[in-house]
Amino acid sequence: MGTSSAEVPDVKGPPPSTVPPSEVGWRRVNSHFVYGTIRKAIRDGGVKGPILMAPCGYGWYFQRFRRDNIEVVGMDIAPSRIERARATVTPPMKVIEGNILQMEFADGQFELVLTNRFLMHFETDFRARAMKELARVSRKYLLVHYDVPSQHTFMRKLRGFKKKDFTPEELQGWRSNKRQKRRLIYTPELMAAEGATAGLVVKKIYHVFPVLASRVYCLYEKKSAT
Ligand SMILES: C[S@@+](CC[C@H](N)C(=O)[O-])C[C@H]1O[C@@H](n2cnc3c(N)ncnc32)[C@H](O)[C@@H]1O
Repeated sequence: MGTSSAEVPDVKGPPPSTVPPSEVGWRRVNSHFVYGTIRKAIRDGGVKGPILMAPCGYGWYFQRFRRDNIEVVGMDIAPSRIERARATVTPPMKVIEGNILQMEFADGQFELVLTNRFLMHFETDFRARAMKELARVSRKYLLVHYDVPSQHTFMRKLRGFKKKDFTPEELQGWRSNKRQKRRLIYTPELMAAEGATAGLVVKKIYHVFPVLASRVYCLYEKKSAT
């Protein structure tokens, strides 16, 4: 695995605007609470140094992270997304091109690694390999977005939504299904099992909107750090 270091830009200059102009209405409210949940987990962990966001897409929440003095190193496989992520704040966050299955970071380089809106789109083998690699570059914490049963999933069933939620074994992978077909719903037991294969234990599960919405963030801690 790689050993290159990720330097963090010297953060000076005026504070950036807080939210992208595209975030309006419900999206903005949702983003506010999602970001607040992530920030709480980061602060609860007492994380000081830069965090790694893998993948980072177009620089999701970079503006909010910068406003809160949380420095981020991003990585993504898509050059077009990297270009946008680098343009999101000034001075830019450091953004590296790479594959999450083999990242050019040293073992334990980041105190906390965040992965958002990503793993649940993949099949079991990919997720297991990605979890191991994310755990490798983390010194202490891995914060992972999962979906869990909620009123939202319950209402879908009540409305006669025909397709059942997929189990990990049934999920076929990134972009091969429409969104509702690649919805992977977790239980705390599944999260614990997924983490255990990568040497992680569940420290805390953070709900964005308890009961109402499916999104949670599972804060794993490395067994070696406990
Ligand atoms: C749904 S987006 C989520 C991006 C970001 N985490 C967010 O919340 O906005 C998924 C991202 O994963 C990236 N991606 C897909 N496969 C990848 C891989 N093997 N390694 C790194 N990034 C990957 C895509 O380029 C895309 O930007």
